[in-house]
Amino acid sequence: MTPVPTPSIFAPVSTPAFAIRELSFIVLAITAAIFVIVGGFAVYTLIRFGRRPTNPETEPAQVYGSKQIELAWTVVPFLIVVVLFLVTARYVWGIERRAKPPDALEITVVGNQWWWEIRYPKLGIVTANEIHVPVSDTASPALTFITLESVDVAHSFWVPQLAGKMDVIPNKTNRVWIEPLRVGTYVGQCAEYCGLQHALMLLVVIVHPKDEFRRWVATQQTAPAEATAARAGRELFSSLACINCHSVQGTPGNGVFGPDLTHLMSRSTLGAGAARNTPENLRTWVKDPSAFKTGALMPAMKLDDAQLDQLVAFLVTLR
Ligand code: CUA
Repeated sequence: MTPVPTPSIFAPVSTPAFAIRELSFIVLAITAAIFVIVGGFAVYTLIRFGRRPTNPETEPAQVYGSKQIELAWTVVPFLIVVVLFLVTARYVWGIERRAKPPDALEITVVGNQWWWEIRYPKLGIVTANEIHVPVSDTASPALTFITLESVDVAHSFWVPQLAGKMDVIPNKTNRVWIEPLRVGTYVGQCAEYCGLQHALMLLVVIVHPKDEFRRWVATQQTAPAEATAARAGRELFSSLACINCHSVQGTPGNGVFGPDLTHLMSRSTLGAGAARNTPENLRTWVKDPSAFKTGALMPAMKLDDAQLDQLVAFLVTLR
């Protein structure tokens, strides 16, 4: 994974994110004007009416019950708030009412403590933490509609350069859509405190050119080839508790508590950003996930070195 710059709402690449930046500029302009006016008056007053050595020690004139002044400082802020409210409502409405085109890519993202399950229901793909989508252009728009669900606590889905923040709530389905206009890798994070490893719920969206995306889909839809050298590891995996939580196509593993491992090696990190996905880190992870991620719900597997070697030899074939 190449290093990605810190995500910024001021560097949008997707339609809803452009709208959000536009709204941010309007709000910033209005509040900046208020700041300059109020700050200007304050500075002017400090300089113009500051106590001078020649001043006698008397109080300034006391003003009571001025209808004009009180009306001004009630009505003007009220009107400003109304304007901010209406402008914001217009943008929210504009983003939310966007109807799903029939050819839109549909993804379901499920928040888990502490990782993201990514499902492509119509394509039969299940992966984790890394969302792959096609790039959109004016000639052939490619929108992605994301359904958000949580299996445990409240999380929040936020990839600042692509769309606004959306809560991921148990027993409630939320939706968000993106239309990325530039190929690239965009990072996001869980944005709602969800427990010990809230900080390690990295979310990565990889925007591909259309043909590259089709190739990614084809690879994900193909079960990885069974390597003879990995047979011992495959049998070990199938005999251990791994299969209760993890799915691997072509093995008895069909668990859903943990990430689907069918194409494990196509992902760049382990534990939703806890470590790079290298064979050495994979070995450390399987030995004891808490080495990278204290509190991870996967238990240490208590395997000996030979078993770890076999298991990792199998896992690295899952491309
Ligand atoms: Cu999930 Cu914070």
